[in-house]
Amino acid sequence: MYILGLTTLGDSAATLIRDGEVVAAVEEERFSRVKHHSGFPYQAVQYCLDEAGITIAGVGHVGLYWKPWIIRHKVFQALKSLAISREMFAARADRGIAQVSDSYLGMLKLPRLIRERYGPSEFRFHYLEHHLCHAASAFFVSPFETAAIFTMDGTGEETTTMFSHGVGARVRPLKRIKLPHSLGQFYSAVTNFLGFDMFAGDEWKVMGLAAYGQPEYYDFFSRRVLALNGNHDFHVNIRVLDHHLAKRYQFSQEIVETLGPPRSPKEEISTRHQNIAASAQRVLEDAVLHLLEGLHEQTREENLCLAGGVAFNSVMNGRLIEESPFKRVFIQPAAGDAGCSLGAAYLIHHGICKQPRGFQMEHAYLGPSFDSEACAAALKNAGLEFETLADDEMLPRVARMIADGAIVGWFQGRMEFGPRALGNRSFLADPRRPDMRELLNHKVKLREWFRPLAPSMLEEQSSAIFGKPHIDPFMVTVLSVAEEQRDRIPAVVHVDGTARPQTVSRKTNPRYWQLIREFERITAVPMLLNTSFNIQEPIVCRPEDAIKTFRGASFDALVLENHLVMRSQR
Ligand SMILES: [Fe+2]
Repeated sequence: MYILGLTTLGDSAATLIRDGEVVAAVEEERFSRVKHHSGFPYQAVQYCLDEAGITIAGVGHVGLYWKPWIIRHKVFQALKSLAISREMFAARADRGIAQVSDSYLGMLKLPRLIRERYGPSEFRFHYLEHHLCHAASAFFVSPFETAAIFTMDGTGEETTTMFSHGVGARVRPLKRIKLPHSLGQFYSAVTNFLGFDMFAGDEWKVMGLAAYGQPEYYDFFSRRVLALNGNHDFHVNIRVLDHHLAKRYQFSQEIVETLGPPRSPKEEISTRHQNIAASAQRVLEDAVLHLLEGLHEQTREENLCLAGGVAFNSVMNGRLIEESPFKRVFIQPAAGDAGCSLGAAYLIHHGICKQPRGFQMEHAYLGPSFDSEACAAALKNAGLEFETLADDEMLPRVARMIADGAIVGWFQGRMEFGPRALGNRSFLADPRRPDMRELLNHKVKLREWFRPLAPSMLEEQSSAIFGKPHIDPFMVTVLSVAEEQRDRIPAVVHVDGTARPQTVSRKTNPRYWQLIREFERITAVPMLLNTSFNIQEPIVCRPEDAIKTFRGASFDALVLENHLVMRSQR
């Protein structure tokens, strides 16, 4: 039985599962090359069908991550700001199916449109609650038989935060917090205040900046903007900080009087901006910890599953693993709306088809792959000279190049699902070099100086680096690096002594594991600096994307499967 899950507005994506196993999961942006692609994921769907070797006729169920008839909040929002709605959901994709589905109304026509585009099929179509999809995306693929589930985002329909309880093949919602009380929208408003763009997903920048500041405005935020109350609830005062108005830089008088003027996008970053970021970050973390205490009281579970866009906040994740009452935490790596496509498929598999659990998500390598011949063909097409090497030659050579200071574009196997490159579409560099962060941010990735860079480390060695056991194949948690280790790996340790590691397992990514092992042999450091293989674009998907990026940038070598291209041979 094949089940297709869909996300169609913002971070569009498709996931196909067969008998409860993920066959393929991919974001549309990787094909369209438009970041956070909004519109029907028609290339992603086609790829999923191709990967399974089926047509749409072979799909038994299709699930959408949204119930489009819940529009009370939309009407309210549209009245407040027509322009913003248009901007957010402007059709950026191709004509036809993509255009029609770029609206809530269009979602109602999806079953017909899918058949028109992909051919006849007897599939049953399901509109599914957004936060249930988030919850399913974490719990049903987690290692836990039972767990408390916490989902939080900007909004899904009108729910912004949901408590649920997962038991076996069932997710039971316990509590929904609705608009305008939204942790995601609070953080987005601060993102805009700091001159970044919430529609571009710039919330990462606020989190990175927060480490440089002091929470000087904590009391103001927690008293006047995001207040916690009894009953493990919270309240956002949109008269003080309104997410919609923030988009147009129309901030309330109280905000401007307290925090000063909003930062314009080109303005230098000051201590004040860093302190605002630190304050908002702390308030968010405290709110989530407060809510989790309530969820723990209700469920008495030791396991916690997290999803929803706010669960990308890896600094918050690190703190709640330390301080929340839960003992074990699983975070869906595609925590944002793309992951809802996966959740939708599992919600149908367990909730509607009543199938038992059986799958565990141990890695995120669920996208397209390109074999050695396809990579060689792309290189020849581009007129690039390359060497073809077996791994016993390739891996030591690449490790040596990195140890000697090279930045390598590394492309192998199936592309990652979710926003993190996990060693299959990555830039790799030497974590020991103090100048490497600046070099990568400024010269290669063309982005802000304060963006932290993360390490991929041998799973077996993570205890030594952090001073305690830590396994995270998905790079979703920030934690403190053991003090004696910090000076050895300055390029991947943030200003506050933390890092956001990926632990690499020999079982799930043997070739990447082996490469890191080779680097360790040379340097005695069991990790590589890993940042996503992209420059101001979505992560590269096809060999052609990697080659285009190589040609337009200044990194030293490109590896496509077992082919090596050196910059000097370009
Ligand atoms: Fe969401």
